[in-house]
Amino acid sequence: MKAIEVKNPGQGYALAAAEIARPVPAAGEILIKVAAAGLNRADLAQAMGAYPPPPGAPSTLGLEVSGEVAEVGGGVTKLKPGDKVCALLGGGGYAEYAAISEKSVLPVPKGVGLVDAAALPEVYFTVWTNLIDTARLKPGESVLIHGGSSGIGTAAIQLCAARGHKVFTTAGSAEKCAAIAKLGATKAINYREQDFVEVVKAETAGRGVDVILDMVGGEYIQRNMSAAALWGRIVNIAYQSGMQASVNFAPLLMKRLSLLATTLRARSNEEKGAIRDALLREVWPLIESGRIKPVVDQTFPLAQAQAAHARMAKSDHIGKILLTM
Ligand SMILES: NC(=O)c1ccc[n+]([C@@H]2O[C@H](COP(=O)([O-])OP(=O)(O)OC[C@H]3O[C@@H](n4cnc5c(N)ncnc54)[C@H](OP(=O)(O)O)[C@@H]3O)[C@@H](O)[C@H]2O)c1
Repeated sequence: MKAIEVKNPGQGYALAAAEIARPVPAAGEILIKVAAAGLNRADLAQAMGAYPPPPGAPSTLGLEVSGEVAEVGGGVTKLKPGDKVCALLGGGGYAEYAAISEKSVLPVPKGVGLVDAAALPEVYFTVWTNLIDTARLKPGESVLIHGGSSGIGTAAIQLCAARGHKVFTTAGSAEKCAAIAKLGATKAINYREQDFVEVVKAETAGRGVDVILDMVGGEYIQRNMSAAALWGRIVNIAYQSGMQASVNFAPLLMKRLSLLATTLRARSNEEKGAIRDALLREVWPLIESGRIKPVVDQTFPLAQAQAAHARMAKSDHIGKILLTM
């Protein structure tokens, strides 16, 4: 089958079409004939040699796809060939076929196109498990979503707005702020012009926000503590500005804050299955009612994966970049 391989991993990596063996679904797995694959910032890190796939995962890039079930492995009873699905993968999405545990698979929501459905798995698995399972976001609480125009950010804003939360968010330009305000953010803050701590404090009468979803790290670690309310929870899903910081922990102590961080990719099929079940129950109805929509920035043919990576690296995109077969 056709797939994309990374040539010379590292700073100057190249993505090139290759012929590789079509995967065979093991017991409990399905084989998906891929319609589209979602790009993730982690793919760029993997291509640069900084984010190896977990044991057992394919080495080909690609953490999510949409498509049609082509075959089912032993013991799979709820899915059958021809079903239209989208799925979270440990790797292998930049290819014509991908095999994955049935526990990571969701139906394409009614009203969503087969290609656009590739924009859903990674962001909603990540946002749900971090905001709800990890940061224990409760009804009525306020949130701050950093990187609001990212794939993750556009999903988090929509989910929180649909569930009635007051949403603060940061992005790096006026154009991005205008776009993400339309997704339901109460206040979109251009972090290049405004201090998010000051804006959050001013908008909450000094109280701060209950939950912060952060992908920036670095100096944001200290500033997040300043923007958090009493008993606030701060969850990091990445540290794009740095894994190390000099931090004064006094606010953590005095405001009884929780500092949290998680990754998704290496979790067990059972853990992913529990998140999948929650998404089906809580998020898919919001998508099917039109309250939440996939936000697709641009699609590229699979053969142009390198150009798609260049677009993400430039960070001009708003929402998800997809590769189509
Ligand atoms: N832990 C996990 O399980 C997990 C799962 C999925 C994703 N992630 C991580 O989540 C992040 C987002 O993923 P993605 O695929 O959605 O990537 P993406 O679309 O490329 O988004 C990256 C975002 O970071 C923003 N950003 C960079 N510096 C910032 C700053 N100082 N303040 C505010 N925003 C800043 C960029 O916005 P500007 O261009 O406006 O600066 C951009 O929107 C990535 O770091 C990814 O690795 C983690």
